[in-house]
Amino acid sequence: MKDFSEIKEQVKAKIEEVKDNASLSEFWQSYLGKQGVIQGLMKEMKNVPPEEKPSFGKAVNEVREWAQGLYAQKQSQVKELELKARYEREAIDVTMPAMKRDIGNLHPITLIKHQMIDVFAGMGFEVFEGPEIEDDDHNFTRLNVLKDHPSRDMQDTFYLTEELLLRTHTSPGQIRTMDTHKPPIKVLVPGKVFRSDSDATHSPMFSQMEGLVVDKGITLCDLQGMLDKFVQEIFGSGTKTRLRPSYFPFTEPSVEVDVSCFECGGKGCSLCKGTGWIEVLGGGVVNKKVLENCGIDSEVYSGLAFGIGIERITMLKYGISNMGVLFRNEQDFLEQFKA
Ligand code: DAH
Repeated sequence: MKDFSEIKEQVKAKIEEVKDNASLSEFWQSYLGKQGVIQGLMKEMKNVPPEEKPSFGKAVNEVREWAQGLYAQKQSQVKELELKARYEREAIDVTMPAMKRDIGNLHPITLIKHQMIDVFAGMGFEVFEGPEIEDDDHNFTRLNVLKDHPSRDMQDTFYLTEELLLRTHTSPGQIRTMDTHKPPIKVLVPGKVFRSDSDATHSPMFSQMEGLVVDKGITLCDLQGMLDKFVQEIFGSGTKTRLRPSYFPFTEPSVEVDVSCFECGGKGCSLCKGTGWIEVLGGGVVNKKVLENCGIDSEVYSGLAFGIGIERITMLKYGISNMGVLFRNEQDFLEQFKA
């Protein structure tokens, strides 16, 4: 019996120390488990004189039940403690400002391309895209840029083979459209083009937007009307166009199109180099030979075409003087175009 009170003191002290599940199960093993101290008392039974066996057994049972009671109490305390700790660990302060996520934005060339498509889509144009690797036929010959014709010098070409090349302009999109569609035709062909050319205002890869309209009775006036609308949408409602005679093998007549300077309103400034006008694109009436190269009767139908440099429009619109920033993709530059 003396031993029991010692054991009880031990149990009391140990259960006090229990703070978590691990020490709780350690306690169980030390006192209540099969190898535990209390179970061990039962093994003493064989040394107890027969008349004392019943009272000994009863006393052991009482100690066991008492210890089990302490264990159960501790178990529910530990459970509560652990739950509390978990709530604290997982607490969310709903009044904290949310983490800011940086979202990207469209590249200025893409922005302008989308704006351009929007303007022309409003006039009923559809978008068509051709391949970046073209053949000589589509890029030059059928556009009336014949082999050995000096006009080939206008575009410094990356050849892949004798016949294949990286398209130097989006104009082969005209041929591909007319090969697959009957008039009336009204398409835009945006895309990347490639030329062996590199300085502050030229890049070996840049973007163009081709426009082609083929129908009965199309004239140069239609071209100017559409382009007026286009430049007003892009550069502001007061902007005017001016057509200057030019030469492209695939248009006759050919024009170079200037816009009135949106910086100075036409008075003359550094942007327009004092002239009041800025050149923005080339175009003209589709050369009859090009229509015929695509099996379209040039006595019945006529067309207009234009080609716009997307980088040029982007640079003018945003006041960019060196084309390189459009391709270097520096974050400080790109972030200025966030909506
Ligand atoms: N393809 C010409 C170039 O890259 C631009 C051009 C001029 C396109 C006149 C046209 C056009 O459709 O009619 O220089």
